[in-house]
Amino acid sequence: MENLLLLLPLMMLWFPPPKTAAIAEVPAIIVFGDSTVDSGNNNRIPTLVRSNFRPYGRDFMGGKPTGRFSNGRLATDFYSEFYGLGPFVPAYLDPLYGIEDFATRVCFASAGSGLDVATSNIQSVIPLWMQVRYYKEYQTRLIRYLGEEKAEHTLREAAYVISIGTNDFIENYFANASERKKQFTIGGYVDFLTGLARDFIKELYALGARKIGFTGLGPIGCVPLERSMNSVTRGSCVEEYNKAARDFNAKLQTTIDELCAALPGIQLKLAPLYDFFLYVVQNRVIYGFENVEFGCCATGTFEVGHTCNQWSPFTCPDARKYAFWDAVHPTEKMSQIIAEHLINTTFAQFK
Ligand SMILES: *[C@@H]1O[C@H](CO)[C@@H](O)[C@H](O)[C@H]1NC(C)=O
Ligand SMILES: *[C@@H]1O[C@H](CO)[C@@H](O)[C@H](O)[C@H]1NC(C)=O
Repeated sequence: MENLLLLLPLMMLWFPPPKTAAIAEVPAIIVFGDSTVDSGNNNRIPTLVRSNFRPYGRDFMGGKPTGRFSNGRLATDFYSEFYGLGPFVPAYLDPLYGIEDFATRVCFASAGSGLDVATSNIQSVIPLWMQVRYYKEYQTRLIRYLGEEKAEHTLREAAYVISIGTNDFIENYFANASERKKQFTIGGYVDFLTGLARDFIKELYALGARKIGFTGLGPIGCVPLERSMNSVTRGSCVEEYNKAARDFNAKLQTTIDELCAALPGIQLKLAPLYDFFLYVVQNRVIYGFENVEFGCCATGTFEVGHTCNQWSPFTCPDARKYAFWDAVHPTEKMSQIIAEHLINTTFAQFK
């Protein structure tokens, strides 16, 4: 007993910062998705969907615009920190990082991507099937780097984060002249998307993934871009979009329940974003936000990507007072609040 007490201070030096009690070992975080989690992959591909210029990243470490659609870090960066893996998740295509970094944290996401390959094609970004191809290449590199046994352990025990689906509605289905709208009712499109989500999760499982958190959609009708384009009541959330998000989440939950029953050993969870996001927006004072309707960048109504740049005189001086950074994406502070909720409900629950 005495010996154990003597050992305690030493052990604290070796272990990652204390979090909640008895959290499972998570040796790596592996990310798929869209601009909500892309940490810079789009910088390396020919697309206009970019954010590797000021004022993006102005509150990131070193004030560096990395390609994250944020003034600072993303929710996935906070998950990584929570797991004790480091303060951010590097992009797989970023030449500054190698397998020694990716062995514990790696991001395959691409801003503008969707579950539907037609969505990814709109802006020539990395479709989900290509993200999987990169992941397979990563597996090969990881085995070479760690050896087969250790690599398999990492791939099995890693936390897999999937954050995708918003663009399928905003960029694709609800866009003018959408082919998908001619093909599908909204209910039919939700079924189509959740079918694609099911196939994707099954593929990850077959490749060895077990701990998977699929982030549900937020209230996509409440992002500044949609609020300002709301033709019914300008400035308020677009209920049609919010309903699509809720329908998607409900159908995804059913899909996830089915997969949990069918796939032995899977720890698959829907990370519940929608209600909490709306709660923060509706209770902004509690969280210290002055503005939850406009983005901090430029006029805050439509600017995202190249239209959010350093030449706008209107960008807010303190992004911590805003829930949204640009017309679509949350500020670092909002991401941190959301990350904490999704860690509590989902990412700290893996066994
Ligand atoms: C979409 O169509 C509507 C109605 O025709 C029009 O008012 C709006 O400007 C169009 N939006 C875009 C982004 O082209
Ligand atoms: C997350 O859990 C911690 C510890 O129980 C708690 O202090 C915090 O308020 C929770 N945060 C959210 C956003 O749920």
